[in-house]
Amino acid sequence: MERAFPFETPIASDALIDRREELERLHLAAADGAHVRLAGPRRYGKTSLLLAHAHHLGQSNWRTVHVDFYGVTSLAEVCGRIASAYSRLRDNRVRAHLDALGARLGVSLTTSGVGLTLGPRHPQPSTDSTLTAAAELLDLPVKLFEKDRQPTLVVFDEFQDLLSAGSTLDGLLRSHVQYHGDAATYIYAGSQPSLMRRLFTDRERPLYGQAEPLDLAPLPIDDVLIELAERFLALDEDPGEALAPLVAAAAGHPQRTMLLAHLLHRELGVRRSGGTTLPGDAHAEGLALAEAIFGLALGQTTEAHQGIWDGLSAGKKAVLAALADGLRPTGSRATERSGLTRAALQSALRELGREGQHVSRIVTDAGASGDWHYIDPLFAKWVTLRGHVPRG
Ligand SMILES: Nc1ncnc2c1ncn2[C@@H]1O[C@H](COP(=O)(O)OP(=O)(O)O)[C@@H](O)[C@H]1O
Ligand SMILES: [Mg+2]
Repeated sequence: MERAFPFETPIASDALIDRREELERLHLAAADGAHVRLAGPRRYGKTSLLLAHAHHLGQSNWRTVHVDFYGVTSLAEVCGRIASAYSRLRDNRVRAHLDALGARLGVSLTTSGVGLTLGPRHPQPSTDSTLTAAAELLDLPVKLFEKDRQPTLVVFDEFQDLLSAGSTLDGLLRSHVQYHGDAATYIYAGSQPSLMRRLFTDRERPLYGQAEPLDLAPLPIDDVLIELAERFLALDEDPGEALAPLVAAAAGHPQRTMLLAHLLHRELGVRRSGGTTLPGDAHAEGLALAEAIFGLALGQTTEAHQGIWDGLSAGKKAVLAALADGLRPTGSRATERSGLTRAALQSALRELGREGQHVSRIVTDAGASGDWHYIDPLFAKWVTLRGHVPRG
């Protein structure tokens, strides 16, 4: 179903709120043949932004392949992901290249990896043929460019996962893409900002200095408010005074913003026929309606928060709890409450910061500054309530 406020999958380019500057930067980089590393927490709109960029480039002489490395565990899978990204182009010339490559190496290039879907009578492809396949897949943009002079934008999404398939694969990648010149530009997108930074700013790493940084910030609240108000208007729905506090509560988190807008939209729709989706006050308006919708979202996401919480160390829990309660995360109140040492809390906070999933502060390549804050406002609320959330 086409949603008025999509919140589950990457969204179409015309549904994007703001991100104009980011699109402009990506556009300039492509025109200059510069590579970009795009970092931002999960669900911050990296893939949506890149799809919009690809859409715009597609209107000029570019093709885009979007390779998703999420969860890859072997080089064979990496090859499969690259091959399937190219096959999604539905281009016969590309298809022919993939088939020829597979036939020559005696492997089948499938979405799950090189040869992994072959029956038991067929041996697994050798390490050598997997390496050759990887090399040739990485060099495909050059082959294609020789034929049609069309440059390729190659997006490596969830790039950090590449290293789970092999800790030196960034070296393999570099050894190919560095010769691609006019044939291709690259975008490396990742949801672990600090790992991304390290891959490209550590002199020891092969990709050192290979891409310009672009960090995804929260969406600007005023743009969100104006845009969402327009969308409700177009739907002939009046969220009244509820919209502004909801947008503020979402704190610019793209997916949370859209989820809250969706729930509000659904409630307004159901109200038209005399019903409600709210457990309590069915006639709530304004701030009370915003609070009820926020509660609904909390109820719907509580299991995910619980899963995260249960997997955290005692130190991380103490830090997150302090922060949710408005205390300094490694201050004396936090140590008193938790019975942990300051050093333990500091190390937990450092690690949380490195992971970049739950808390962040303004970080540049030069260093970090500013106060720590929660990335996900729903998780922040959940931790404040320590999980005592009415089920939605
Ligand atoms: N610029 C944006 N405007 C509106 N919603 C957005 C925007 N960026 C992201 N979203 C919302 O966030 C969700 C996740 O976006 P996605 O591109 O999949 O994020 P990521 O790739 O960073 O995990 C989308 O379903 C959409 O609801
Ligand atoms: Mg994504």
